[in-house]
Amino acid sequence: MKFLLPATLAIVLATASAAPLSPRRFGQEQAVDLGDKLNAAGPFCQNFAGVAGTLGGGSPGTIVARADPCAKLRLADQIVATAKAHQCTAEGLKIMLDAAMDEVHAEHNFNPFTGALDIVCLDPTLPVTPELRGIPPLVDPRNNGPGGNGGLALVPAGAEAAAFKANAATNATLTAAKAAGTGPGSTKSVAEQLVDLGFTFIQGLNAVAPTPSAADGFDG
Ligand SMILES: *[C@@H]1O[C@H](CO)[C@@H](O)[C@H](O)[C@H]1NC(C)=O
Repeated sequence: MKFLLPATLAIVLATASAAPLSPRRFGQEQAVDLGDKLNAAGPFCQNFAGVAGTLGGGSPGTIVARADPCAKLRLADQIVATAKAHQCTAEGLKIMLDAAMDEVHAEHNFNPFTGALDIVCLDPTLPVTPELRGIPPLVDPRNNGPGGNGGLALVPAGAEAAAFKANAATNATLTAAKAAGTGPGSTKSVAEQLVDLGFTFIQGLNAVAPTPSAADGFDG
């Protein structure tokens, strides 16, 4: 979560030494740190100058609140395609794939002053890369209290517990996917994958028509 009013920020900074910052924090998109991860692939790929910087530099813009939530999945596809286009060795491909998985797994920010629902890609065709499918994203942990004060939107009942469960599950999925070199696969959108984990606090979810293969995905 990256939005904080200046006054709130001042309070957070003033109290930071007394109490550790909670995971509902600002600047979260920097956690992906894609440029550094992709740079490590350089020695294992051809004509790689500038590639890591360009792809990595695109990452923060895909997970800010105003971004299309499907943009990060397209960027992840582009990272894997780039690895192939630059003849990366198996080692280079693994570095690129791990970074692409981190991008798929990244939390998309939303403005907690204007809403309390996560912004998640609803397009079941993304990401296209088979190895990247089946990894749901992190969602806002919502563990900063109920909201409703200082202009913060109210956090819906059950959202914190559901977010914790979904985040624990998707963290485990990411770890397993990196170890296996491929995600578990899914025919569903990443939003529907979160619904399957019991997390329904997603913008626009009701507008999604379940696809036949995903018809059982709305019972969470
Ligand atoms: C999931 O992993 C992120 C780091 O990627 C961590 O900040 C978060 O606490 C983890 N959540 C759970 C519920 O394990």
